[in-house]
Amino acid sequence: MIFSKITGTGSYTPDQVLTNQDLEQRVDTSDAWIQARTGIRQRHVHAPHEKTSDLALMAAKRALKSAGLAPEDVDFIVVATTTPDMVFPSTACFLQAKLGVTRGPALDVQAVCTGFIYALSIADQYVRSGAAQCALVVGAENFTNLLDWSDRGTCVLFGDGAGAVILQPGNGPGIYSTHLHADGRYAAQLSAPGNIQEGEIQGKPTVHMDGGAVFKFAVRILDQVCREALNANQMTIEQVDWFVPHQANVRIIEATGEKLGISPGKVVVTVDHHGNTSAASIPLALDEAIRDSRIKPGHKVLLAAVGGGFTWGSALLEI
Ligand code: UT7
Repeated sequence: MIFSKITGTGSYTPDQVLTNQDLEQRVDTSDAWIQARTGIRQRHVHAPHEKTSDLALMAAKRALKSAGLAPEDVDFIVVATTTPDMVFPSTACFLQAKLGVTRGPALDVQAVCTGFIYALSIADQYVRSGAAQCALVVGAENFTNLLDWSDRGTCVLFGDGAGAVILQPGNGPGIYSTHLHADGRYAAQLSAPGNIQEGEIQGKPTVHMDGGAVFKFAVRILDQVCREALNANQMTIEQVDWFVPHQANVRIIEATGEKLGISPGKVVVTVDHHGNTSAASIPLALDEAIRDSRIKPGHKVLLAAVGGGFTWGSALLEI
């Protein structure tokens, strides 16, 4: 039986750092409020010339390097993003060209903050079936492009960045399972409700959120989808070495960890220095914890995310 295994990881955050103190100058907020309600201290913001595919390129190059591979080895590219370079072609096609890859499919996945889990699940199916030998899976966001900088309820929460993993076939796990879900009835609670009609932007294309409702749903559903992953593999939470959840709010992460019964020392938290980078948050956190040697080969890692749609999902894997 073929499994897919993560053989390399990489990430990238833009140079510019926006602190809570910087935000105090722009909107009626305070460092104390942001830290107390979200755990965020700072976030990265892309330079005007940096497209989402540029962030993805940096993360992808680092992931390839850590896997000991070259761009020509890649035969499948999937990019999870909510902030594509343009309406079309896909950000994955731009990334493919920038990497110099000329074969295999390249596609974007749109599942907002759950995007990386969706992308990982899709790539896992291709690798396990033998249809791909070397999949590049990226979560990349210039999410600050979607912010209304006068709305203190949302503009303090998000940041930009990219993370990537390489998936290759292996004889053992690898990825034990992925579980994906969606329920479009919740669309209005978290959206960027704009579109293009007759060449003009219609509606307000910046983030609109019912924060309290999203918070409650997130804690309930993250616990549920993690238990689904554990049950499907007859594992207990004690057997998990690391929990790498979507990084939206440290209070959501702590409440979920408590519900699951996982010790806080096994939870990777990066939201303090990245903010919420949507589809990029999990691969950014995963790469950070692998590079600083918290996550080691053989460790079992549980990933879980929830985002607009609503969408939600989990992945249980061994590094
Ligand atoms: O990736 C998934 C996407 N999003 C999320 O996961 C976010 C989920 N939600 C949350 O993280 C939290 O609900 C927030 C951080 C967005 C808000 O925290 P909260 O504890 O739910 O605060 P709240 O919305 O109930 O607001 C409390 C107060 C309000 O003032 P009043 O009405 O009590 O006078 C807000 O106006 O805090 C005020 N407030 C702020 N004050 C200072 C809201 N934003 C800010 C701000 N600075 N930035």
